[in-house]
Amino acid sequence: MADQNSIQQSIAPELEALNARIRKQLGSNSPLMDTVIDTYLRKKGKQLRPIVVILTAKMLGQVNDSTLAAAAAVELLHNASLIHDDVIDNSMTRRSEPTINSIWDNHIAVLVGDFFVSSAMQQAIATGDIRVIDSLCYLGKLLSLGELDQIYNARHHHLSEDAYFHIIEYKTASLFVACAKMGCATVGADEATTERLSEFARLMGLCFQIRDDIYDYYSHDIGKPTGNDLREGKITLPLLHALLTADAPRHDEMLALSAKEMLSDSEIATLLSYAIEQGGIDYAYDRMAELRDRAAAILADFPTSQASESLLALFDQIVARPEKI
Ligand code: IPE
Ligand code: IPE
Ligand code: MG
Ligand code: MG
Ligand code: MG
Repeated sequence: MADQNSIQQSIAPELEALNARIRKQLGSNSPLMDTVIDTYLRKKGKQLRPIVVILTAKMLGQVNDSTLAAAAAVELLHNASLIHDDVIDNSMTRRSEPTINSIWDNHIAVLVGDFFVSSAMQQAIATGDIRVIDSLCYLGKLLSLGELDQIYNARHHHLSEDAYFHIIEYKTASLFVACAKMGCATVGADEATTERLSEFARLMGLCFQIRDDIYDYYSHDIGKPTGNDLREGKITLPLLHALLTADAPRHDEMLALSAKEMLSDSEIATLLSYAIEQGGIDYAYDRMAELRDRAAAILADFPTSQASESLLALFDQIVARPEKI
């Protein structure tokens, strides 16, 4: 199976052009904005979403200027959502570096995030394609709604798997859907093809967030701290599964603990261990395996190409279970 590095290598010229575009787009005549952005961009991230735009376009046609502008738009909006998310989650570390809110403060992080949002819009407009612009605007609304619903659920201790899936659909899968839609639009794909690849991307996005949520349960080296979700009152799939299993041992005690307004570090550790002991992680991996099989079936209807194989390989890396977990 191709790993992410070799997939990146296979589209290296496109990614280079993408990063030049993003750099140019983010230029300003403000020394403070430039300093914050330079510091932030020292660690770029995996650029998974633009990779999905480019591979989708490659599967169906030829990557062109509009594809790259659309890819820049989603990567910029993704980064805006991370910068704002770190304010919302009060997170101090991202990509193994201090967050903008921790180096400067929330005021500056909100404004820099806004600058990224508008930069994303300008890249979408550069495609000249109203479908790309519409996807980006719609997506921005879903991201906000997903983050808002997550806060609401955390505050009201609302525990439901449907609600969890609704949140991750909005706050994360929507970005992946937009990547597929934009990749398709920029090579003139028909509506039915666009729908099928959007569904593939939606399933990938759901798995991406489930996997990210699992990482919050273990120490790892992806450059973000553990236990942060629970510290913010956010109960994700593994613990949710344990708490929704009413006949599990110590269930009532753990349910009451999870509803406390403020959790200490040791209470967080207790809840994380409980989720693991009750098979919450196994459950989350099983759910991802189901979603992955549905996604693979969608791709199987397309002619095999290097791009389609890369898309499936990316999906497989997301759902692969590391040995120590
Ligand atoms: C982080 O996404 C946000 C989530 C949806 C979990 P990534 O892990 O793709 O972020 P970067 O851009 O690679 O840092
Ligand atoms: C990310 O959710 C979703 C976004 C819309 C940014 P998280 O809060 O879990 O993302 P990380 O773990 O901080 O990257
Ligand atoms: Mg968050
Ligand atoms: Mg966060
Ligand atoms: Mg997370």
